[in-house]
Amino acid sequence: MSEAIKEQMDTLVETINRLNYNYHVLDETLIPDHEFDALFQELKKLEAEYPQYKDPNSPTEKVGGKILTGFTEVRHEKPMLSLDNAFNAEDLLSFHQRVLERLGNITQVDYYAEPKLDGLAVSILYENGRLVQAATRGDGVVGEDITENIRTIRALPHQLTAPFPARLEIRGEVFMRKSVFEKINTQQLKRGLKPFANPRNAAAGSLRQLDSKITASRELSFYCYGIGLFEEVPESVAPIEQHSAWLEYVHTLGIPISQLNEKIDHFQDLVAYYQKIEAERDSLPFEIDGVVIKVDSLQLQERLGFVSRSPRFAIAVKFPAMEARTRLLDVDFQVGRTGAITPVARLEPVEVGGVVVSNATLHNQDEIARLGVMINDEVMIHRAGDVIPKVTRVVIEDRNPECVREIIFPTECPICGSPIIRLEGEAIARCSGGLTCDAQKLEGLKHFVSRGAMDIDGVGGKWLEILLKEKVIDSIADLYHLRKERLLELPRMGERSAEKMLESIEGSKNPPFARFIYALGIREVGEATARTLAQHFPSLSELMATDEITLMQLADIGPVVAKRIVEFFALPHHRELVQALLNAGIEIQYPAPIQETENGRSELPLLGETWVITGTLSHYDRNEAKEKLLSLGAKVTGSVSKSTTKLLAGEKAGSKLTQAEKLGVTIVDEATFLALLADYGLANA
Ligand code: IVH
Repeated sequence: MSEAIKEQMDTLVETINRLNYNYHVLDETLIPDHEFDALFQELKKLEAEYPQYKDPNSPTEKVGGKILTGFTEVRHEKPMLSLDNAFNAEDLLSFHQRVLERLGNITQVDYYAEPKLDGLAVSILYENGRLVQAATRGDGVVGEDITENIRTIRALPHQLTAPFPARLEIRGEVFMRKSVFEKINTQQLKRGLKPFANPRNAAAGSLRQLDSKITASRELSFYCYGIGLFEEVPESVAPIEQHSAWLEYVHTLGIPISQLNEKIDHFQDLVAYYQKIEAERDSLPFEIDGVVIKVDSLQLQERLGFVSRSPRFAIAVKFPAMEARTRLLDVDFQVGRTGAITPVARLEPVEVGGVVVSNATLHNQDEIARLGVMINDEVMIHRAGDVIPKVTRVVIEDRNPECVREIIFPTECPICGSPIIRLEGEAIARCSGGLTCDAQKLEGLKHFVSRGAMDIDGVGGKWLEILLKEKVIDSIADLYHLRKERLLELPRMGERSAEKMLESIEGSKNPPFARFIYALGIREVGEATARTLAQHFPSLSELMATDEITLMQLADIGPVVAKRIVEFFALPHHRELVQALLNAGIEIQYPAPIQETENGRSELPLLGETWVITGTLSHYDRNEAKEKLLSLGAKVTGSVSKSTTKLLAGEKAGSKLTQAEKLGVTIVDEATFLALLADYGLANA
């Protein structure tokens, strides 16, 4: 009996370890999450009942447990060095030339290029395949013992897969994925705790927890980028002569390495690698701050040696920093489409990641309080991708109390003077003027003509502002009654602009149902929700007559969104507006209902599929391709992952294609995509 239980527990440990390995190291999902959780719970239950049979390397150990009173010191057997920095292609060329010269003016060197992960360097020691110790880098000579915390990282095996060396020190970066960072920060705020400034700080804070249960909850990740000491590599392992061969070998032992690593044998390709990774930077699931270039041959590495604390065989080529320090000059309060008041920081212009920034968002009143920021403070700002830069902290050490003054949140709308109201439990304060407020009207108009909405590209924000100010229009419906003669009376309006404006308004009269719903600007109804509504309701009048209960039965619609939709259509003013649009000649295009057709094909043939689009398409731009896929029921996401089912790859597809190939995702070329559209009657004329 007990034998059987022990065997059952061992099998569970083996299965869970294998699934973890496939998921975290090979990026493959073999079974759904809930099935994995069930196996995990079963093992936990058995271990609680029969502690005598518990494997010390059980995956359940990855949830943390022991609480330490402090961290003990660990002396690194081989010091952990750092890298020399380069900042552009010129610096990289100098590095390459130095390498060639030192090696006696040879003409060619093989390199290995890796992303520079923005986390913390750690050393992890395996003895006889078992994870026995882990330490921070510290000062490079002495670090802190963080074994318990490292043991909570799902991606790291507690036991290596054979054939492993008797002793092996894995070095690499512990980091936090952007998605996890967002989640952890939301939780911090909910608990009234200070959010982390960036994923790196969050990872650092999580590793320095005395209670490893907390570390476990932070879902840290790890990639190996090097080897420290190693002893007794089994003879069955082919001799390792390159850095890349080491990484490939440890990968077979179960250690994760980045999929972005590449072997490169030409200087030009090093520059191209740097540029490619920089272009992908914002869409990667984790933060990086540059690339690291290493001479691949271990023999050449040895010949190049070290200078002070950095190797001569490697260099970090940094990207422009996304963070900068500047002064807060003033705060303006902007009024959004829904009346939301957003405090906007006016800054002394400063370059951040190659872009000059003079405005940043302060989000809302609570954020101002949380930051404790005052006018004239020195502040740190952070810019990520295309989003509006934000103020992340005050450089309080450098505040001059005599020069700063408090930020006063207004009580009246700066545009229309109506009272500003902040409902209980809401973070956002709003102007109560509704559509009598010109700011809200203008934002509503801008939204209506925007790309995902009615897509009226002949009427930009500036013209809308003028049309509104000159009282040529008062609401979105008025756009459809514009006359050329009246437009020509406006300052700086030419014949051509007026015609273009009228043409594009005319051309917007047959919107797909989803875009029309989105264009109305109902609060909380974004493009995805609008699509759900359009797929479910056969007509606008049925949507307008629906109730909250019906709405809440739809995917992704919760009580708040349902309430907003019902409230919107309940207002006589909104009903009149919709009627005015229909009277003006708008004819909504309804999608074909979801049902089996005669040939047995569903109208949403791609339902359940997740597509990613990459490279350049010649027949469609990416947005159009996305829209076609969405209309066939597919989900379209920005990056390739385990859940991606198909990759639509145009010309010059880059790392997404490589990643998809690695994960075995089906690649669809443009010709096949066009054929598929034609098949479903969706091809453009
Ligand atoms: S190699 C001899 N490779 O950058 C130096 N470092 O300044 C060994 N880092 O402390 C480091 N990504 O924390 C290397 N692909 C990568 C890296 C990387 C991030 C960090 C690491 C190190 C610092 C070097």
